[in-house]
Amino acid sequence: MKSDFLDPEELAALQLRSIGRNVRISRRAVLFRPGRISLGDHSRIDAFCILSAGPAGISIGRNVHVSAYSAILGQDRVTIADFATISVRCTLFSSNDDYSGLTMANATIPADFRGAIDAPVVVETHAIIGAGSFVLPGVVVGESACVGAASLVKASVAPFDVVAGVPARRIGHRHPGHRALAERLLQREAADLSSTDG
Ligand SMILES: CC(C)(COP(=O)(O)OP(=O)(O)OC[C@H]1O[C@@H](n2cnc3c(N)ncnc32)[C@H](O)[C@@H]1OP(=O)(O)O)[C@@H](O)C(=O)NCCC(=O)NCCS
Repeated sequence: MKSDFLDPEELAALQLRSIGRNVRISRRAVLFRPGRISLGDHSRIDAFCILSAGPAGISIGRNVHVSAYSAILGQDRVTIADFATISVRCTLFSSNDDYSGLTMANATIPADFRGAIDAPVVVETHAIIGAGSFVLPGVVVGESACVGAASLVKASVAPFDVVAGVPARRIGHRHPGHRALAERLLQREAADLSSTDG
């Protein structure tokens, strides 16, 4: 039986902008405009994810996990840095309609009748976004920050902050222990690579 993840030939056929080693993409994920999507070493996109790249593209670093049912949508750039985690059913929006009522909304309406805004989204290294959360355009989730489950992130999150709720507010500070472990993991990987080379 075939694995749920695309095999190397199928990955190559996607013609991603760039692809690292050991990338896994579920055959049940949907990638629109894959030529604008880059994925780093060991990253993984699970089943039922939708990645829809705008003109500025989607850039995903190494050891990033985009968990099942998550979506990355919009016209502006989305960057997810090394070791970041997007938990189940999260949505990152780099575009948003005008909800004020001043202008019309939705993708079927001509742009001159809409007040939609586009702005980049950045999830910095080691950040983790809890299940069922929404991140709006212009937000930077700082390095090693944590977003609690079912949160609406409207404003940027400072490095190592823990935020949660609707809208998300600061509730704590994240332990830095994972950063030392990441250094050890990188060292072990470098040692393994050099022993394979030798
Ligand atoms: C954010 C989180 C990490 C905080 O955990 P914690 O440090 O143990 O925090 P606590 O449970 O002590 O909660 C601290 C306060 O924040 C509130 N809070 C915690 N998580 C919250 C959330 N997701 N949304 C809203 N408020 C939340 C608590 O109600 C509590 O408020 P209080 O002080 O007024 O009573 C955790 O609650 C969470 O949401 N984890 C995400 C888990 C997940 O999505 N897993 C998916 C599989 S990987």
